[in-house]
This record gives sequence, C-alpha cells and structure tokens, in this order.
Amino acid sequence: MERTLVIIKPDAVEKGAVGKILDRFITEGFRIRALKMFRFTVEQAREFYAVHKGRPFYNELVEFMTSGPVVAILLEGENAVKRVREIIGPTDSEEARRVAPMSIRALFGTDKGKNAVHASDSLESAAYEIPFVFSNLELC
Ligand code: CMP
Repeated sequence: MERTLVIIKPDAVEKGAVGKILDRFITEGFRIRALKMFRFTVEQAREFYAVHKGRPFYNELVEFMTSGPVVAILLEGENAVKRVREIIGPTDSEEARRVAPMSIRALFGTDKGKNAVHASDSLESAAYEIPFVFSNLELC
C-alpha cells in the first residue's frame, strides 16, 4: 500500500468541485486517511513548492495557491502515487482535455497554472508533502 497527497486547489474549491473530486477518488478504490481545508500562507506555499524555486512560474504558483482555501487529502491504495497521477491527468488542463478527457484536470481545471489539483509526483515527494500538511494526530 502507498500513500500520496492530493491538494484540491483554490480554483476547484471555488467552483464547488470538492465533492465530485473526493467521490472520484473513492470510486477509484482509494481510502481517505486524512482530510482538511485550510489556506496556505505565502511562506508555507513557498516552502511546499520549494522544489520549483527559480522556475519562471514559481511566483505565480505561490500567488495562486494562496489565493483561497484548498482541501488536502491523504489517499491510500496500491500504486497510489502513479495511479493518482493518471487519474488527475497532465499538468496543463488544456492538454488534459485533448489526451485524457475524463481526467480531473480536464474536467475541472483551466490551464497550466489553474489546474484544479496537485498530487505527489513520487514516493519521495509524498514523504515530504504528507508530513508538511498533516500531523500524526490527523492521520486515520
Ligand atoms: P502541481 O502539480 O501543483 O505542481 C507544480 C505546479 O506548478 C503545477 O501543478 C502547475 O500548477 C504549476 N506549473 C507548472 N508549469 C507551469 C507553467 N508553465 N506555468 C504556470 N504554472 C505551472
């Protein structure tokens, strides 16, 4: 069993898509091990996305991720990291609509920046991101 972190981003929360996105992961067979809504501070978002520091989109990404509340979900399942990445689709929602029309980013995102969800891209990222967002007491 693997664990991975999904964050429903401010655009999808604002659209009222939280329920549909949660339902999709449950339907796909994942167990929800932790769940919460919060708003990143600028400092927290910069640290969470530290791996992208220096990239041209970094400031825009931090600005977007702090623009409203997000919903973090800790999912558990077999091959969770890879399977969740498949279910969410490519980073760019416009590309997702072409190559993976039923993916979450195709259905709920707009473009590369406003792409509805984040998910850990490796076991190593999950090991950094999960304890960044959830404390031990919040895990079920
Ligand atoms: P996410 O899975 O949250 O991980 C890093 C994020 O950076 C990514 O989704 C996108 O939202 C964002 N991102 C990646 N490339 C670009 C880009 N070229 N322009 C704007 N945002 C980007």
